[in-house]
Amino acid sequence: MSMIKGFHHLTAGVSGAQEDVDFYTKLLGQSLVKKTVLLDGEDPIYHLYYGNANGDPGTLVTSFPFRQKGVKARQGSGQVRVINYSVPKGSLDFWRNRFNAMNISYNAAITERFDERRQRFHHPCGIEFDLVETDIDTRPPCVTSDIPEACAVRGVHSITLSLREVDESILFMNEALGFRQVGQSGPYHRFETHTGGPGMVVEFLHEPDRHQGSSIYGEGTIHHVAFAVDSVKEQMVLKERFMGMGYIDTSESVNRNYFRSMYFKMPGGVIFEAATTDIGFAIDEEPGHFGEEFQLPPWLVNRKEELLGRLEPISV
Ligand SMILES: [Fe+2]
Repeated sequence: MSMIKGFHHLTAGVSGAQEDVDFYTKLLGQSLVKKTVLLDGEDPIYHLYYGNANGDPGTLVTSFPFRQKGVKARQGSGQVRVINYSVPKGSLDFWRNRFNAMNISYNAAITERFDERRQRFHHPCGIEFDLVETDIDTRPPCVTSDIPEACAVRGVHSITLSLREVDESILFMNEALGFRQVGQSGPYHRFETHTGGPGMVVEFLHEPDRHQGSSIYGEGTIHHVAFAVDSVKEQMVLKERFMGMGYIDTSESVNRNYFRSMYFKMPGGVIFEAATTDIGFAIDEEPGHFGEEFQLPPWLVNRKEELLGRLEPISV
């Protein structure tokens, strides 16, 4: 069995903070589960975590609103191209009506692959999302006053990577990460980890002619995907395995306050992360109160007023 249990989180660079909060919470019914700052670099940039109310790994998508700093990233190959959320079968019409009502750009055509219907829509910063219809996602629904259970998002279903070459990346998924290749449909290759199903699915989209995207933190791209592992012990087993295969582009285990992160680049250039599930969001807020207050790790907490003063106010 793979040490990778599924997704932990996805992290994107977006435009403005308030527009991002509205996209995830008002439109998609996600909870803001943590409001903190990007821990790399000197200038304060929000780090906003969204997911189900429990902040469960596999439901988490996080944002760095880079409009404030004026840094734009470039979409292209070697990146996560699409974030796919699970919704129940028969709910796509509800969501299309909602996109109309809330002025969200979406594609005219509903498409289908691997026997799942899907609807493409766009974050205001240009990042692509799909809603994927499935009835096998048993995670708690993200219900709100205007999103009924029969339509509500369950969590991240899968991700779609854009890759110019796929052969070595297929090998990497199978032999280094312990995923199983479970299907191919035209340019799409599908992999699953652990027990399989929503939250454990990675797709490659083979796009040999797509120009290379950037790897920087900036507005308009998904920067990386984090997979869930139990602890630093599993991170280090993976790191040793990657190094032994020649994939020496790996980081140390980095303290991200709510988890520990080990970053690595897969052969197609996408930044991957192994994030631990042994810490969590309850270290600084009680369950039921996640995301209510601006939080900082112990080493920044004495700069709270200064940092908050340099960030745009947001309301949820
Ligand atoms: Fe991350």
